[in-house]
Amino acid sequence: MLLAIPNVLAPAQVAEARQILEAAEWVDGKVSAGHQGARVKDNMQLPAESPAARQVGAMIAQALGSNPLFMSAALPLHVLPPMFNRYSGGQTFGTHVDGSIRTVPGTNHRLRTDLSCTLFLAGPEEYDGGELIIEDTYGSKSVKLPAGHMILYPSTSLHQVTPVTRGTRLCSFFWLQSMIRDNGRRGLLFDMDVAIQRLGAENPTHPSVVSLTGVYHNLLRQWAEM
Ligand code: NI
Repeated sequence: MLLAIPNVLAPAQVAEARQILEAAEWVDGKVSAGHQGARVKDNMQLPAESPAARQVGAMIAQALGSNPLFMSAALPLHVLPPMFNRYSGGQTFGTHVDGSIRTVPGTNHRLRTDLSCTLFLAGPEEYDGGELIIEDTYGSKSVKLPAGHMILYPSTSLHQVTPVTRGTRLCSFFWLQSMIRDNGRRGLLFDMDVAIQRLGAENPTHPSVVSLTGVYHNLLRQWAEM
């Protein structure tokens, strides 16, 4: 499932994040690429220990924690600290798959990457190219969202960023381990949650709201890994 999550950051937060990130020290993105990624990766990144990355990362983590759509769709167990990348002057990231296991920087804690997140910090009108192309079960999807919006997609997907031929593409990207490892099961729970919310909003006293909420939680209880 590919899901766009609108307005993760408000315009004022995007502006603040950009001000902090623009003053930071950027490095060649190859530093964090694996063997396969390094051959196709051409961008700039902030080091994980960068104070700017930590500051804006904390802002994003806090915003996600109170975003009901993100919580329902991702059912996050552990979210890696947000990272940041920048593309300009023809920079690109060719087709690759993200590593399956990542270590939380500065710890021995390893996470399985179930979902990949890209949060756009520059508007689509600010640059040409820079589409995130994700190969989904039903074909390729091209993603280029307004600033402050985020795309959530399975980390199992092959994906690429097309060359940025004008302006600068600025994004945050990160991964998470979900309580529900299987994309199909997680998608079913999300669809069910959306339907229950809708039923509850239209008909709050309907007895099926309680029974379906019970089924939702009992499925989550059966499937969740922690
Ligand atoms: Ni990637």
